[in-house]
Amino acid sequence: MLGPPGAGKGTQAERLARTRGVPKISTGDILREAVTAGTDVGRRAKATMDRGELVNDDVMIGILRERIEREDAQGGFVLDGFPRTVAQAAALDGLMAERGPLVIVDIVVPEPELVRRLASRLICEHCGANAPMGSGSDVACARCGGKLVQRTDDDEVVVRERLKVYHRQSKPLVEYYRVRPTFRSIDGTQPPDRVASDIAAAIESVGAGAANGIGKAVDKSNARQGAQP
Ligand code: AP5
Repeated sequence: MLGPPGAGKGTQAERLARTRGVPKISTGDILREAVTAGTDVGRRAKATMDRGELVNDDVMIGILRERIEREDAQGGFVLDGFPRTVAQAAALDGLMAERGPLVIVDIVVPEPELVRRLASRLICEHCGANAPMGSGSDVACARCGGKLVQRTDDDEVVVRERLKVYHRQSKPLVEYYRVRPTFRSIDGTQPPDRVASDIAAAIESVGAGAANGIGKAVDKSNARQGAQP
């Protein structure tokens, strides 16, 4: 899933993963868990994330490699927040060479709407789940009952920085992937159910809808078009 901060990548990745019975792999969630657990990676990533900048490519590629090698990801997975740079995309092509196909969905939402969404987003401080739209901070997390709080990087100044970083470092990925037959652009301003059905239709349209693995059926395009920015 590609898209700027607040486009709905996490929301849609969660739904798609549930529908397909494959894991959602969110590098943002993995980093936030590492921060909460106080691991080395978490301690080093925290300051970077709080500034709205990107964590080092080598660290992120290592995290992703380790995660997709796990048993539960062998039948396919939904990626949320990775790749974020052209270097990460090239590394992902290498990791996917034996697995194919990579279906790329770019969720498009204009900036004022992104800022509005992030300013009003609440997450559970315990399990990290997004609260449903319109929940107040007096409402508890529907999943675990935890307290709902603002994400530390959803502060307005940090959001502006994240958007700048997106345009500078992540938007070039759209050009990197646009030439592939498995790339689709989705209107992310629609209600979440409509976005979800457009994503499902996009996956079907590239021929990867069969079976659980968003995986096996289509691609030769990774290998064919792999490292061409
Ligand atoms: P990450 O957690 O990936 O944050 P992000 O990309 O900025 O994306 P968000 O989680 O803010 O937004 P989203 O698109 O998932 O939208 P959501 O579904 O939540 O990364 C955080 C940080 O970690 C980065 O800044 C970086 O430092 C680091 N990092 C992570 N991965 C990295 C990598 N690969 N390389 C380097 N650094 C990395 O929705 C947002 C809100 O909108 C919610 O409230 C939701 O309910 C609402 N909403 C969703 N869909 C709709 C809709 N259709 N209509 C109305 N509202 C909607």
